[in-house]
Amino acid sequence: MTADLFADDPHAPKPLRLGEEAVLLRGFALGEADALLADIAAITSRAPFRHMITPGGKSMSVATSSCGDLGWVSDLHGYRYASADPLSGQPWPKIPKRWLDLAERAKQAAGFAASSAPDACLINRYAPGARLSLHQDRDERDFGVPIISVSLGLPAVFLWGGNRRADPYRTMALSHGDVLLWGGVDRLRFHGVRPVTQDALDRRMYRFNITMRKAA
Ligand code: SIN
Ligand code: FE2
Repeated sequence: MTADLFADDPHAPKPLRLGEEAVLLRGFALGEADALLADIAAITSRAPFRHMITPGGKSMSVATSSCGDLGWVSDLHGYRYASADPLSGQPWPKIPKRWLDLAERAKQAAGFAASSAPDACLINRYAPGARLSLHQDRDERDFGVPIISVSLGLPAVFLWGGNRRADPYRTMALSHGDVLLWGGVDRLRFHGVRPVTQDALDRRMYRFNITMRKAA
């Protein structure tokens, strides 16, 4: 990992290291945030947001969709990756090239070694009140590619824990345009999102999060 991030932009915020192989790049996707939101709208016109059911029978407060060769799904049988959208039986929409390019640039900026492109992308939509409890991303077969997580819309408080559920966690704000990556020794960190809140003057309705992974 290098410390030489945003070398060509003296005003860019300093990356925040959250672990040996976990880096927060504040505002990294800001310049293309509107285009990313338009991509989300196009993808979810074909694979609509839905509230999946957990194996325990609860409806998730976060609405999800996916794009890529594989999409993350949950139902009473468990969590898994599926090549077709269970709502339509159709393959998931492709990951836009813009997203793959962003993933590549973020990996480089965060100092990760070259690795395969992601093949699965979960898209989360949080209305105010929606949350994600502490969990690990461990349904993927390939942990050699870092998770690349892009935050858009309303801000959120992110929980960043250790490798065990009971480990202490820190909290940090994730804002529109922030990109967070975790791989290698940090790939199985527990993480989550506090219930999203909306300031009275904030006209944005949702927080969106894109997480790209290599699942197969
Ligand atoms: C996730 O862990 O799937 C999403 C994290 C986030 O919304 O920031
Ligand atoms: Fe996750």
